Amino acid sequence: MRAVILVGGQGTRLRPITYDIPKALVPLRNHPFMGYMVDFLRSGGIDGAVLSLGYLPDPIQAYFSGRDDLDGFSVDYAVEDRALGTAGGIKNAQQYLDGGPLVVVNGDVLTGMDLTKAIERHRATDALATVTLTSVEDPTAYGLVEVDHEMLVHRFIEKPAYDDVTTNLINAGVYVMEPEVLDMIPAGREVSIEREIFPRLQAEGRLRAHVSSSYWRDIGTPRSYLAASHDVLSGAVGAGENFEYLDVDPSTRVGKNVKLLPPVSVAAGCDIEAGATIGGRSALGRGCRIGEGSVVEGSILLDGAEVEAGAVVRGSILGPRARAGQGAIVRGLSVLGAGCVIGEGNVLDQGVRVNPGVILPPRSLRF
Ligand code: GTP
Repeated sequence: MRAVILVGGQGTRLRPITYDIPKALVPLRNHPFMGYMVDFLRSGGIDGAVLSLGYLPDPIQAYFSGRDDLDGFSVDYAVEDRALGTAGGIKNAQQYLDGGPLVVVNGDVLTGMDLTKAIERHRATDALATVTLTSVEDPTAYGLVEVDHEMLVHRFIEKPAYDDVTTNLINAGVYVMEPEVLDMIPAGREVSIEREIFPRLQAEGRLRAHVSSSYWRDIGTPRSYLAASHDVLSGAVGAGENFEYLDVDPSTRVGKNVKLLPPVSVAAGCDIEAGATIGGRSALGRGCRIGEGSVVEGSILLDGAEVEAGAVVRGSILGPRARAGQGAIVRGLSVLGAGCVIGEGNVLDQGVRVNPGVILPPRSLRF
């Protein structure tokens, strides 16, 4: 069976990171997200995928063409010249499918769910599509799915107000479907699977659900991306017996009295100066520079990011080559775009986002 992986969206909620890196390739423990997706599909017996691409397709294609460990997992690319939406993106992939049942996944979900169970469940019913569901504590940011006792879907509620929450089961973004569903999708225009196609199947009584209690998280916002990173570093997903909690590339230079507190992941060519602390659940990409006495905790630093002497980065994301100047404080889910420079002594907090290339003069911002 093949899968369609939807990776054509702009990832607006994860800006400014997604201005430069498609959401499908943001790293978790220094491995591009797509690697986790392929492992997930393979564990469910899927033998190939069509990448449904639109926004920033080239780096995604380059990632797959540069991999020599796909072991027969076949990959095709269907590239949109304008956004076709989540159903339009599936339709656009049709030419690469074999006419049998298929799996469709949102290309931004990290899950340990047993895909074989979802496929089995689908096959045991007359459903044209089976939507996997997962429960979350605060469902208000998601698409809720109400089901009856036979797991027939009877209502979708998109991003409900707190008072309208009737279930904590949400659409997990993993579907099994019959090829007939593709014929229901009009070609050549933007179509949403959640808003147009599933409601039609639901009205015909041909849409069922499968609930998974396994690990699930999407990486669509800075908060959930950071949480997914913490989970992967802590071994909550995809960790075997030999999982390394202190995953430090040997080419990294570590100065005197540096504290590296596991779980932590440091990629090749980093330079960590004396007295710095890399606190638990941090991931440093290739070639990051960490200055003397600085502190990085619970954060993601992408390739080439810099934290100068005495700066503190806590629970935040630094884009590629972003720099936190001397004594700067970047905390509280702040996100720095590629190449931006936070001058000496600034304090960033409360989820502030700085666009790529912006230069903040010293001591100009204090949250
Ligand atoms: P936001 O802009 O932050 O909402 O992110 P997004 O663009 O990724 O949208 P969303 O999270 O709703 O999309 C769910 C999945 O569908 C993601 O994996 C997207 O890449 C994918 N997707 C969204 N829109 C399109 C599209 O027009 N074409 C294709 N091929 N995929 C899409």
